Amino acid sequence: MYFLAFVLSCFGSSVLADDYSRSLYLDPNKTYHLSWKFNKSHIEFHTEVKTLGYVMLGLSTDGNLKNADVFFAGVSNGQPYSSNYYGNSDGKLSLQSISEWHLMYSNESNMETTLTFSRELSGPNMKMNITQNTMRVLWGYGKTDMINENFQLDGVKSLYLLEDQLPEPEMPNDAFHIQFRMNKTRIPNSETTYWCKSFETPQLDEQVHAIAFSPDIQKGHKDFVHHMIVYGCYGNTEKGNNNRHEGECYLGSMLIHWRYCTEVVFGWAVGGEKFVLPKHTGMSFGGKDDPVYYLLEMHYDNPQEKEGVLDSSGIDITLTKSKRQYNVGILSVGYTVRGCTQLIPPYAKEFKYYGNCEACGSMIKPERNNQWNEDGVKMIGVLLHAHKAAKKIRLHHYRDGKKLPDIMYDDNYDFDYQDLRRIEKEITLLKDDILQVECVYGTTDRTNFTEGGFSTKHEMCQAYIMHYPEIKLKRCTSGLNFDHKLIGTNLQYKNNQSAVKKMELIVNGLEPEVGFIQTCVNKTSRIEYMNQTFPVIKSDDPTTQQPPTTEKNSAAKFFVKTGMIFISISYWLI
Ligand SMILES: *[C@@H]1O[C@H](CO)[C@@H](O)[C@H](O)[C@H]1NC(C)=O
Ligand SMILES: *[C@@H]1O[C@H](CO)[C@@H](O)[C@H](O)[C@H]1NC(C)=O
Ligand SMILES: *[C@@H]1O[C@H](CO)[C@@H](O)[C@H](O)[C@H]1NC(C)=O
Ligand SMILES: *[C@@H]1O[C@H](CO)[C@@H](O)[C@H](O)[C@H]1NC(C)=O
Ligand SMILES: *[C@@H]1O[C@H](CO)[C@@H](O)[C@H](O)[C@H]1NC(C)=O
Ligand SMILES: *[C@@H]1O[C@H](CO)[C@@H](O)[C@H](O)[C@H]1NC(C)=O
Ligand SMILES: *[C@@H]1O[C@H](CO)[C@@H](O)[C@H](O)[C@H]1NC(C)=O
Ligand SMILES: *[C@@H]1O[C@H](CO)[C@@H](O)[C@H](O)[C@H]1NC(C)=O
Ligand SMILES: *[C@@H]1O[C@H](CO)[C@@H](O)[C@H](O)[C@H]1NC(C)=O
Repeated sequence: MYFLAFVLSCFGSSVLADDYSRSLYLDPNKTYHLSWKFNKSHIEFHTEVKTLGYVMLGLSTDGNLKNADVFFAGVSNGQPYSSNYYGNSDGKLSLQSISEWHLMYSNESNMETTLTFSRELSGPNMKMNITQNTMRVLWGYGKTDMINENFQLDGVKSLYLLEDQLPEPEMPNDAFHIQFRMNKTRIPNSETTYWCKSFETPQLDEQVHAIAFSPDIQKGHKDFVHHMIVYGCYGNTEKGNNNRHEGECYLGSMLIHWRYCTEVVFGWAVGGEKFVLPKHTGMSFGGKDDPVYYLLEMHYDNPQEKEGVLDSSGIDITLTKSKRQYNVGILSVGYTVRGCTQLIPPYAKEFKYYGNCEACGSMIKPERNNQWNEDGVKMIGVLLHAHKAAKKIRLHHYRDGKKLPDIMYDDNYDFDYQDLRRIEKEITLLKDDILQVECVYGTTDRTNFTEGGFSTKHEMCQAYIMHYPEIKLKRCTSGLNFDHKLIGTNLQYKNNQSAVKKMELIVNGLEPEVGFIQTCVNKTSRIEYMNQTFPVIKSDDPTTQQPPTTEKNSAAKFFVKTGMIFISISYWLI
């Protein structure tokens, strides 16, 4: 099983700013309301803030004032004012002589300041570009119009600024709902718990389509429920269907049959919203090839280790008998999740792992016989997933030895803000295409190795690709074919980025001795191709971030010197 998380903005939208495609309150007390819209060149913000002092909005890649682009504006004695600051390396703000921001409207009344301002998205001389990456929106306001040197932020919010929200779609008349929910589950009094519960496939007379998935979080439990994933389970049907069995996931006590829950059906994470499938697609439920039962995985956060909290949160699924044209599926690609195959050294500024999907092409074909005459299938959404050490994740796409544009990327990855993001213009995936997930980790704040694994202390590197028609391939991952826990653990990584680099070369196969295992999983079985070497595809595209091949020889020497030991890993049965 794999876990993933989907996140969106937390607060309800307002009807106050109808002209804007996106809007939300930045704080739970609803003092700062932000709306915005964008076109190809500009973004236009509209703020309504309960203050008669200044209003501040800033943009940053990591949530700090350092290198942030900050705009202050307000109304003083009936006159509008505005200024643009930039965050110096010490976090102090310096006034810019030319403002990137343009105040278009201001009004102060009824204890509230209303502003409209715009900014170019990007430009060669801009210190901060607004991109598809997760932007950290910095916000604050003052009681007065005095902008103080020791300005403190009121908050930071991660947002995908350049993503339009789809209008609430019309639901068919025959729409009905099922819920996969906990039933007064006692949240353990530990910081992080993965709790699993299985559900029978609902009694349906015929195959139907799921067209929307909504989080159903118990009131007041937003702080406890970090993410939820629904898996589809196949195989071993008699024993597997332990309806409504529940317990902690990934422990020895976990039901052995839950290993058959290999297909991600849907995922959600903190603050997320409803996910609605495109009009021509639906996810099949109740058909003969559909999951035999389902598993709901809850990731509970309980940092204060509160006792006796009972939770009944879950996922609500909207279904219809008016079937859509195509079945959607989710393919997960990335680095194999096993503690012993992924290891990230401490003190690394940037440490890359690549998860490849190359040898599973025979399974990239429509799962069912629906009249699909095109070559390949269409990708419509991607969720990039890693844990707290991840800084960047990119999903690369190669065809005939050439690099195509990245299918999805986020260079400002935020673990607490993940979402299944729509691909605006559907992208074709052909049978012989190569997919590669690149994860860049930063561990400068860690003093020991970080291993791969499902817990948030461990790391993952995955992309979940929503596509249609549904293909046979469910999971396609690569991982080193030896336990490399023992290599490089005797190196001093502190103050030594070259040691970090050497380790990176090894784990990415720039070593003759190193091979990968390519794992291809369909609904019922897995195939493993041993000793794969994934060619490093050369490209002119500057967004391709490949480890430099020139260090190959020194890495090879290092390899021998440290006396690497091959340990074969025993695999889980599927
Ligand atoms: C929200 O308002 C309440 C009551 O006025 C106050 O106690 C609390 O500190 C405020 N919270 C924030 C985050 O400002
Ligand atoms: C884009 O938006 C900006 C700010 O709202 C506006 O000034 C500009 O005219 C718009 N450009 C186009 C091409 O619509
Ligand atoms: C300012 O806002 C108030 C209250 O919404 C409104 O009555 C007034 O017309 C606005 N003034 C301007 C100049 O837009
Ligand atoms: C912003 O984008 C422009 C291209 O539009 C690029 O030249 C510039 O270097 C970028 N600036 C930053 C800070 O990334
Ligand atoms: C929750 O559990 C209670 C007690 O076991 C049971 O009566 C109730 O039907 C359950 N609710 C649901 C929605 O399953
Ligand atoms: C550091 O990590 C390695 C590899 O995961 C582990 O074997 C070792 O026990 C850890 N050391 C400490 C001090 O935790
Ligand atoms: C850094 O690591 C490399 C590779 O292990 C090693 O050769 C070098 O001596 C180390 N440098 C320092 C200053 O420790
Ligand atoms: C899964 O793959 C195995 C091995 O290739 C094959 O025998 C089996 O029929 C496949 N199952 C499905 C549901 O496609
Ligand atoms: C994979 O490589 C290892 C080490 O070189 C070798 O011992 C093993 O036989 C190879 N396995 C396969 C299936 O080729």
